Amino acid sequence: MKAEIAVPDGARHTRILGVGAYRPRSVVDNHEVCRYIDSSDEWIRSRTGIVTRRWAGPDETLGVMAEHAASKAIAAAGLTPDRITCVIAATFTHLMQTPAIATEIAHRIGATEAAAFDITAGCAGFVHGVVLASDAVRARGGHVLVVGVERMTDLLDLSDRSTAFIFGDGAGAVVIGPSDTPGIGPAVWGADGSQADAIEQTAPWDVLKDDPTHKFPALRQDGQRVFRWAVYEMAKVAKEALDVAGIGPADLDTFIPHQANERIIDSMAKSIGLPPDVTVAKDIVTNGNTSGASIPQAMEAVLASGAAHSGDTALLLGYGSGLSYAAVVATLP
Ligand SMILES: CC(C)(COP(=O)(O)OP(=O)(O)OC[C@H]1O[C@@H](n2cnc3c(N)ncnc32)[C@H](O)[C@@H]1OP(=O)(O)O)[C@@H](O)C(=O)NCCC(=O)NCCS
Repeated sequence: MKAEIAVPDGARHTRILGVGAYRPRSVVDNHEVCRYIDSSDEWIRSRTGIVTRRWAGPDETLGVMAEHAASKAIAAAGLTPDRITCVIAATFTHLMQTPAIATEIAHRIGATEAAAFDITAGCAGFVHGVVLASDAVRARGGHVLVVGVERMTDLLDLSDRSTAFIFGDGAGAVVIGPSDTPGIGPAVWGADGSQADAIEQTAPWDVLKDDPTHKFPALRQDGQRVFRWAVYEMAKVAKEALDVAGIGPADLDTFIPHQANERIIDSMAKSIGLPPDVTVAKDIVTNGNTSGASIPQAMEAVLASGAAHSGDTALLLGYGSGLSYAAVVATLP
């Protein structure tokens, strides 16, 4: 008779136990961006809501920024790094094909027993990481660190009017672990690959192998197409995430969408039918769009400001290149 394979013991429920963020030292205002593109402070503010963003210096590497954010999240969770069983890094600006940056992050924080791997889902990467982490804890137990970390400036063409003013750098992290009560709802996620060219790298890396004089590949987007998709399709995804969690807009305390554009955020809040007393995270104004880092950074900021509180019911919604998306209802740490 064949031996039966043992299955791991997991947790019935999960929740976010702690959050941390790292913002690079250099604050860049719109006037500085206008040194590189033909634009204006007024145009950038009115089209995106962005007033400043952070750009990382050479010493603020992905590993360094992630270490700061992760260490804060682990301390906030009341844990020590040796309790972390898995590190998931959500990023698309790690310019080494291998090894994964998560292995460096695990080493830096001293999570010596942890599994470590990266996921790439553009600006939706962090919420994908939360979903995977929650399912991993439900299946296997332990504590999973999810880090969103980006150096968007490494993939920016500062002379490009479609991207130069939008993006910023930084890191945000959460720790997900077992809970006595439900703290992370079912996920709604997906991708529309037919629109993959709406946000993409201008050329694959091997263009440099074939032609070393080729311009370094950069990020490009069709801003209007992304805007329309986000406004019309992502509000539906948000409503679906509330439905599968068994709650309505009035049960929400906080909405933490990907920080892509203030007009997209406002339009979504209206389409979802959020009551005026729901706190809507607007880290975009001071931080720009930090892609995979934007949601944990916004979560940290909204909690630190006192506008949201531990125990609040929040909707997290990530979306971006792919075009990929993921949404989930979660209790704030
Ligand atoms: C990028 C974005 C701000 C551009 O705004 P827009 O209103 O769509 O701008 P358009 O491309 O339609 O251009 C409108 C006008 O502004 C001008 N313009 C475009 N970029 C400009 C810039 N950076 N500065 C000043 N003017 C600009 C255009 O030339 C055009 O001028 P015209 O009317 O005289 O022809 C907007 O499309 C957007 O936010 N999209 C979503 C992007 C996003 O969030 N991406 C990340 C997803 S993860």
